[in-house]
This record gives sequence, C-alpha cells and structure tokens, in this order.
Amino acid sequence: MSDQSEFPAIIAGGGDLAAFLSANKAAVDAALDHAGTLLFRGFDVSDPLAFDAAIEGYGEPGFTYEDSLSNAVRTNVTPRVFTANEAPPDTEIFLHHEMAQTPLYPAKLFFYCEIAPGEGGATPLCRSDWVLDQLRAANPDFVARIEAEGVRYTNVMPAGDDAVSGQGRSWRSTLSVSDKAQAEARLTALGYSWEWLENTSLRVTTAALPGVRDLGDGRSSFFNQLIAAFRGWADSRNDPNRAITFGSGDPITSEDMADAIRIADELTYNLAWDVGDVALLDNFQVMHGRRPFKGKRRVLASLIA
Ligand code: FE2
Repeated sequence: MSDQSEFPAIIAGGGDLAAFLSANKAAVDAALDHAGTLLFRGFDVSDPLAFDAAIEGYGEPGFTYEDSLSNAVRTNVTPRVFTANEAPPDTEIFLHHEMAQTPLYPAKLFFYCEIAPGEGGATPLCRSDWVLDQLRAANPDFVARIEAEGVRYTNVMPAGDDAVSGQGRSWRSTLSVSDKAQAEARLTALGYSWEWLENTSLRVTTAALPGVRDLGDGRSSFFNQLIAAFRGWADSRNDPNRAITFGSGDPITSEDMADAIRIADELTYNLAWDVGDVALLDNFQVMHGRRPFKGKRRVLASLIA
C-alpha cells in the first residue's frame, strides 16, 4: 500500500492559482495521479470568479451539470462553477465517486471553499484503490461479484426539484426532458428500466454499471456509489434497502456493505476547509462526501470531463 501520509498532497503556495496551474500542468497531473487529491492552500483565490479562472488555467474541458444524470440539486454560479449538493446542513453526504451511479461521470473534480463552515462540514476523502485492496482481502466473494456483474442502482425522482433531499433532483431536470414520453425515450437509450409512481414520480433502475474500475496501471478502485446509496438514499420517496443490487438483480447484503463501510471509514481523511482552499480530486481514485455542519458553509464545485 502507498504511504497514507501523502494523502491528500498539500501544495502550499501564494499568488495566482490560475497562473500556477497553467505553468505547472504536467507536474500537477503527475502529482494528482500519485496522490489522488491535491489541496492548493494559500493561493489568492478570493471569489468564485477567481476559482473559475483557476479552472480555465488548468485548461481541461468541463463536464456540465445540465448534461449529467446527477441526483443532486445544484445551482450554477459561473458557467463552470456550481454549488455543491444543496442538501440541508444536517444531512450527511456519504462517500461516493461523483456520478458513478450513472453511465456518465467526470474524470476529475475541483472544489473551492468560499465560506469555511463554523462547525463540522469537512469533506471526507477516501482512496478507493486502498479500499478495494483491503476489501478484496476481507470479502473476496463480494469483490469478485461486483467486478464480474457490476451493480445496479434504483432511485425515485420527484416531478419537481426537492431541495430537502440529497436525491431531490426532478426527473425532468435529471433526464433533461419536459414530458413523460421524452423521459421514457431517454431511459430506453440509457438501458434503464422504470416505473411511474402515483403518476408523477419516477422509479428508475440503471443498467449494470461498474463496481470496480481498472485504473490502467496495475491498480483498481472501488469505483461505484454503493456506500452513498446504501447509507444515504433515504427520503420521502427512497428506501436505501432497495437502492442497490448486483448486476444480476440479487440484493447486496448489509453484511457485504458493512465490510466496505468499515474499511472506507478507517481510510478516510477529513479535509477541514480554510477559506480560499482549492482541492483537485481524481474521481476514479478517490471518493468524497460531506460531513454535516452548523452555520454557513459554501463549497463550490466544478467537474472536469
Ligand atoms: Fe459528490
């Protein structure tokens, strides 16, 4: 296993982050590949426009929220910057790879702390390749099944956005459609199955999606959304016990998930934000979440295709 003291790698600096990222792109990418997460601390990133400029300085194309199948309710701040999940402060967002519960996911994520939380509100970060190594030793049958079959996710989307839920994005917004016929055409193209509930909300089950990702360098990661779905997909419409299955449709047991959750919790680093911090995450190597908080907290996000 790699040296855990290097996670995340902190790049302490000063001055303009956009210029730094532009001038040091190759070195930044090499460091990101090694560490999975880079924290840029002490640079001059005074507002969301400076964050947007830093993303432009990094120079890779964006992955837009409108095009994504994310379940979270979010709001754009600049063309490339949006609010992180707007779920209420007391709601924990559990560890996940961004949008791994859909066939469309970003390769990397930027976060920016505009307002540091008064209490709580850390961003838990967890190396998913380390999780997989330990899980393979603890529960080889489970890893073999998610590797061979993939996994399916089931969730219920409301007719209109529900900001009280971490899963509250409406089916119209999630699927970028305006009526039921368009929704069904999009779901068919995605290979999803579905059921209309009480004629307004929509239960969908994905095609079999990856449970494990080959990182291409001899490593693999626990690339999925199983922990967040199992622990967190609870609201007035969603039952976490129905949220995840193996690709075959067989239920994933709470015993299987207990191993994954215990190992991930042990490997989690809680990033306590300072104002102006920018973090860059490799979405294939690292899971993230959001701890509950009190008071104000504003952490903005941007996705890299
Ligand atoms: Fe996320």
